[in-house]
Amino acid sequence: DVNLKDKAAGNFFVGAAVSTNRLTGGYNDLLTNEFNSITAESEMKMRTIFLGPGDYDWTRPDALVEYATDNNLNIHGHALVWHVEVPDWMTTFTGSNEEFEQIMEDYIKTVVTRYAGKITSWDVVNEAINDGGGVRNTIFLDKLGPDYIAKCFQWAREADPDVLLFYNDYNTPADLTKQNDVYALIDELQADNVPIDGLGLQMHISIDSPTRQQIQDDVDKALERNLIVHFSELDVRVNPDGREIVGTLTEERDFDQRLKYKEVVDLYNDIPDPFKYAITVWGIRDPDSWIINQYDRPDWPLLFDGSFNRKSAHTGFLEGLE
Ligand code: G3I
Repeated sequence: DVNLKDKAAGNFFVGAAVSTNRLTGGYNDLLTNEFNSITAESEMKMRTIFLGPGDYDWTRPDALVEYATDNNLNIHGHALVWHVEVPDWMTTFTGSNEEFEQIMEDYIKTVVTRYAGKITSWDVVNEAINDGGGVRNTIFLDKLGPDYIAKCFQWAREADPDVLLFYNDYNTPADLTKQNDVYALIDELQADNVPIDGLGLQMHISIDSPTRQQIQDDVDKALERNLIVHFSELDVRVNPDGREIVGTLTEERDFDQRLKYKEVVDLYNDIPDPFKYAITVWGIRDPDSWIINQYDRPDWPLLFDGSFNRKSAHTGFLEGLE
């Protein structure tokens, strides 16, 4: 009965997205037996931590860091800057842009410093490029200016010289305009000597899409730029848009999902060593997945079912490591 982390040992981390209310019982069993890395699904985002200028709530991120430390789990930090999780007080901020910039610098440096030596890597900026391309119009672009992404990476680096710094985004294998703009952004950062170590490809995918070749092409572009690649939020929908909806995980879709997990893991496993880091699945049990709330159809996107039992997808993950 080989476990995911043992099968991938010495090669890359196998991670899971977690939250403080899912660390006991079956969650704890799987986190300690199958995984060796965690990402906070929500609780290291700005809205959780940042109550106001100089005012921080460390309760939940600290609890996750303590759990990981106690159980020898690597920690990937997610995410310092993301337009979706901006605290309410910040969205209504009426001070000057200079004040806003000071607040952001303080925030990034305070969070990164607090966990220096404990957190291996951070998603510094998350989802800054639009679907279909173009830099996303956010409060950060508006108030910090077009070089805001560079500034955020620099502040993070000043706070911790050793932590790995990632840019993280979704759907770039399938959306080539978006993909081009992500790499244009990275080229610009690298040309300006901005400290970026890696690229997070979220990998919220389905049994149909993207194809192996599409994923490979995206990964290759990251490797051409000497970036560490993190498959940072993997899940595989079995009821994607455009397909007939099934009300249960049929044998056919279960098999297709196993193949997709195998394909993704196999592809990741072929990345040259210094550029491998982790594959992180975005949750543990199917019924806890964000996919269930997001789409108006049932789904079973993860590796374990509602009773914490391994699915065929788990077999596929192991097969990808052969
Ligand atoms: O914690 C509160 C809880 O106190 C409250 O009772 C409950 C009521 O709705 O909400 C809880 O907060 C929710 C939080 O997840 C924790 O479960 C938020 O409403 C909900 O919006 C939040 O959703 C998360 C979402 O990011 C937004 O932060 C999802 O769980 C999480 O899977 C999702 O993850 C994102 C990645 O960070 C970035 N990439 C895309 C991915 C999927 O959207």
